[in-house]
Amino acid sequence: MGRELGAVYAAVGASWAISGGGWRLAIPGEDAEVRPLLVFNPPFFVMTCDRGDNTSVPKRGFVDIRAHPLPGVDDGPANGFVDIHAHALSGIDDGPATMIDALALLRAAGNSGTTTLVATPHVRPDFPGVLVTELAARVEALREEAERESIGMRLVIGAEVSLGWAVEASDDELALASYGQRGKDLLIETPRVVVAGLGQLLYRPRSRGFRVTLAHPERSPMFQRDPSQVEDLVSQGILLQVDAAALLGPGRSPIGRLAAKLCRDGLAHVIASDGHRAASWRPVTALADAVEAVCAIVGPARAQWMVCGAPAAIVAGLPLPEPPPVSGGGGGALSGRRYRRRP
Ligand SMILES: [Fe+2]
Repeated sequence: MGRELGAVYAAVGASWAISGGGWRLAIPGEDAEVRPLLVFNPPFFVMTCDRGDNTSVPKRGFVDIRAHPLPGVDDGPANGFVDIHAHALSGIDDGPATMIDALALLRAAGNSGTTTLVATPHVRPDFPGVLVTELAARVEALREEAERESIGMRLVIGAEVSLGWAVEASDDELALASYGQRGKDLLIETPRVVVAGLGQLLYRPRSRGFRVTLAHPERSPMFQRDPSQVEDLVSQGILLQVDAAALLGPGRSPIGRLAAKLCRDGLAHVIASDGHRAASWRPVTALADAVEAVCAIVGPARAQWMVCGAPAAIVAGLPLPEPPPVSGGGGGALSGRRYRRRP
C-alpha cells in the first residue's frame, strides 16, 4: 500500500464524497482513498493518501477557492495557507535574484497550497537596497507581473525588520514596514545574539501601538538555552512565528527541538515558510511540507489555526481567533523522527 505523506492535494474537476468515515477523492483518471489532515474549505485538503497500486505519484493541482473568502478577513483568497514570512521581492535582499525567479517562487507557493503570501524583505543594514518607502511600488510591480502570468496569489506588503531598526525607526517608517502597511503588525527578526533587555527593547514598538510577531525564535541560542525567556515574551503579548523548515530538519538539532517545543507547549502562533526560493535553498514550499509534522505535534485543528486562521488575522490586523487546544501526540522533531520531504 503506497502512502503519500503530507501532500497538498487538490485537483480541478475532482469530486469528493464522504464514505466509510473518510473522504473518497475521485480525480479523472485516478482513484484514491484519502484522509484529510486539514480541511480548509472543500475542495482543498492537506491529507494523507493511501493508494492501492502505488504505481504513480498523485498529481498536484489547485482549485480556484477565491470564491470562498475567510470570514473576518478582507478581500482576496484566504482559505489556503497564509504565509506571513517570505522573501519574494527580487534583487533587494537574499531572496530571488530576478523577477523571473520571484514569479517562480509565487508559482511554487501557489501550487503547494498558499493563497496569501506576504513579501517580507529584510530591513537591516546589510541589505541597504531595501527601503520601506519603496515596498509598495515593488510589491505592486510583482503583483502586476504575477497577474500577467495568471498566478493566483494574494500578495501583501510586509517586511522582516531587525530589532535595531525597529527601535530606531519613526512611527511612519514602522507603519510602512507593517503588514499591509496597516500600522498594526510588525514582523521582527529574532536577534541571533544574546540581547540584554530584549523584552524592554521589544516594548518600544509595542508601546507605539504595534503588535509584534517574532520571526523564527527557535534559531536564537539564547532561547535554546532558556526557553522560559520566550514564554515571558509570549505572556507579554508577543506572537511567535516558527519557520516550517525547523520542523522538517533533524529532530535532535537545537533549532528543531525548540521549534517543536514552542508548538507543543502552545507558545507558537504561526508557521511560515521564510521562503527565499521556489525550490532548493530555503524553498517557499517548506510550509506545505511541514504540515504533517505540525499536525503530529499539535493536532489538525491547532495546525490549521497556525497556518491559516492566526496568520490571516495578523495580515488583516485583527485579533487572533481563539486557538484550538494542542492535541497532538508530542511527536515531531522532539521525537527524533524525520519527516520526509516531498521530492
Ligand atoms: Fe526571513
